[in-house]
Amino acid sequence: MNEPTNTKKESSVEETDKENQAISITTELIPIFVMGKRYEVPKTLTIMKAMEYAGFKFVRGCGCRGGICGACATVYRKEGDYKLYSGLACQTVVEPNMYLAQIPFYPANRASFDFESIKPVPEEIYKLYPELFRCVACNACTKVCPMDVEVMDVISALKQGNISRAAELSFNCIQCGLCASRCMGELPQYHIAQLARRLHGSKIVPRAQHLDDAVEANREHKYDEWLNSLMNMNENQLKDTYQSREMEPAIEDETWAPEDKNYL
Ligand code: SF4
Ligand code: SF4
Ligand code: FES
Repeated sequence: MNEPTNTKKESSVEETDKENQAISITTELIPIFVMGKRYEVPKTLTIMKAMEYAGFKFVRGCGCRGGICGACATVYRKEGDYKLYSGLACQTVVEPNMYLAQIPFYPANRASFDFESIKPVPEEIYKLYPELFRCVACNACTKVCPMDVEVMDVISALKQGNISRAAELSFNCIQCGLCASRCMGELPQYHIAQLARRLHGSKIVPRAQHLDDAVEANREHKYDEWLNSLMNMNENQLKDTYQSREMEPAIEDETWAPEDKNYL
């Protein structure tokens, strides 16, 4: 994330100005503070959009804009409130007199290892992340998680040797790093949980036969001709092909399968 600059191309500056004017005509403005400086922004915007409205340009700390990538962790305080709040900038709507700071990257410890040689047993995780046992069960990590992951329970499951339970509990983690930022035991919970998920997915649950079949078919170049024909299509042909594809039903139906099974 950068300070407001004049580096945007003129046309995009004009477009942004027009968009901003349209927003501000229809919406009440409220004051927020970014890194201590006051800005007036429309009250309906998310923190991310409000900062862009104020002239900031995100070069880091922004990715999907949809609450999925975990790049936009933000901490803030509210006027007259001692509490330190946190959230995702792309999902949290501004409030009057918010004091904001972006966290572009949280430098948590990430162990190096050769994944192929690791056995799916808890002792391997303990060796790589001995700080796991520094957890004091304060639950600050769970309270700060924007994805409602029961982070402390993930760590507890690993302390009890249950890798699969930790993997399941942490499934919704988006690696934003906020849990590590509040941990008095200085654990990198999200890296530890990611290792648990990798071990669970790769070495504990049985391999899916259809996945092995797909990998084998790919090795035998089964899809090459089809991919090449896509690569040679122009934009309209690609659109037509996309729009006329067989689609899964909107309502989940586990019995559904495409009629054309050539590429399964
Ligand atoms: S914040 Fe750290 S010490 Fe507290 S429960 Fe979570 S992992 Fe344990
Ligand atoms: S577990 Fe930690 S890294 Fe994962 S989403 Fe929650 S706060 Fe973010
Ligand atoms: S930009 Fe991806 S979660 Fe906010």
